[in-house]
Amino acid sequence: MNADLVIHNGQIVHPDGIVDASIAIHDGQILAIGAPDAMPTATETFDAGGLHILPGAIDVHVHFRDPGYTHKEDWDTGSAAAAFGGVTTVFDMPNTVPATANASALSDKHAIASSRARVDYGLYGFLGEDTIANVPEMVAGGVIGFKLYMGETFGRLPTPSTGAMLEAFEIVAPTGKRISLHAETASIMARREARMRNAGRTDPLAHLAARPAIVAVEAVSRAAILAEWTGARIHILHISSAEELRPLAEAKARGVDITGETCPHYLFLSADDYDRCGGVIRVNPPVREARNQQPLWQALTSGVLDIVATDHAPHTPPEKTRNDIWTVDCGFPGVETQMSLMLSALPLRHASICDYVRWSAYNPARIWGLAPKKGAIQVGADADLAIVDLGREMVLDDAALQSRSKISPWHGRRVKGLPIHTLVRGRFIMRDRILQDGTQGWGRSVHTIQSMPAARPRNTDATMEAIVRF
Ligand code: NCD
Ligand code: ZN
Repeated sequence: MNADLVIHNGQIVHPDGIVDASIAIHDGQILAIGAPDAMPTATETFDAGGLHILPGAIDVHVHFRDPGYTHKEDWDTGSAAAAFGGVTTVFDMPNTVPATANASALSDKHAIASSRARVDYGLYGFLGEDTIANVPEMVAGGVIGFKLYMGETFGRLPTPSTGAMLEAFEIVAPTGKRISLHAETASIMARREARMRNAGRTDPLAHLAARPAIVAVEAVSRAAILAEWTGARIHILHISSAEELRPLAEAKARGVDITGETCPHYLFLSADDYDRCGGVIRVNPPVREARNQQPLWQALTSGVLDIVATDHAPHTPPEKTRNDIWTVDCGFPGVETQMSLMLSALPLRHASICDYVRWSAYNPARIWGLAPKKGAIQVGADADLAIVDLGREMVLDDAALQSRSKISPWHGRRVKGLPIHTLVRGRFIMRDRILQDGTQGWGRSVHTIQSMPAARPRNTDATMEAIVRF
């Protein structure tokens, strides 16, 4: 069989080592990996000399805002930002307008994403107090998983009670879909924020004071208990503190199907940056004291944390620079800068580029059942590739972002290691740092699970459905 494209001279990065080999691609998939003279004849050859070839990153936590907040981002600009960040698959959050909470909102978002996205994508369905009954129609309509907000954040979607959360877990458990949690407990934050506001605090550090680590520790612990009881698979989003690692590790040790993610802003920024950044740094959960950074890095290395994702949360400059911190929108863009930030830091943190590939691509694919099609460079997999120059230095510049949101705490930071070319299913989406024309609509939904152990619901005789039947 002839190949469409053969890439020569690159260093292929696997989770367990680096291999010097050529890659042949046919029909969007990897056809062969091996010595240059063992490659089939190809329509096009490409020289990746001096570059490393990574599986494209799978960012399981982005907010592309479309439909509803397209002045902040849309599928076109968001997926262009992904391409520049070496990200070949994104999972989009449901806090859009309308929220992705039923079959019709889901089908509308599928229509927009499939016509605009340049990279592959999964769509999250929203689990709220009153949307539990919609789980079957959302599964049928094609979701990658579900999202549940245990605390209020941007979009002000109301937080479900623990009762509704338990019922949601019961209903999702047998589907095998994973529930991703914004694990911050609403009632603790609400009281503390009210107290701070009454005391007249409007400065950026008041945001951190209102959301101490216990807010997240309590939520992670409670979510783990409900997952253990119901057998639901869960993923803890944006872990920000050292203290959350204990309930996460303990639940894993008990056999709970729980995974954890952290984000670059918790690994690189700290309470010391609030003065410099002002409201731009406001994000949920908050960037915390510097002492949290080393334990988070350590947890990635040890496997207590599974994933680096970005919580790409774009807003406009006016929305990020209001004087009163309580009125500043939470979050900032990240999908485009994650890979460079992480690659820059690996030597300092005694981690390797193989570790990075595990956190950014291999583990996300495995955890959501997308392996072996996604997340690793192997024969039969989709040719989703980030081709990076580890020696290339750059100063991050908000004005140069592809994202519609041109404001972030990363502005002015020097990085070393840059994605130069990005391929999604064998097609160049970015080439030589240039976005490729006509790539809108190339992205496809990845919601069909390829490989996942069977669902294992527990305590099924005590579910809401069981007692009502009884
Ligand atoms: C996110 C957003 O803007 O949608 N904001 C944030 O501060 N992280 C919502 C979220 O992920 O909590
Ligand atoms: Zn969140």
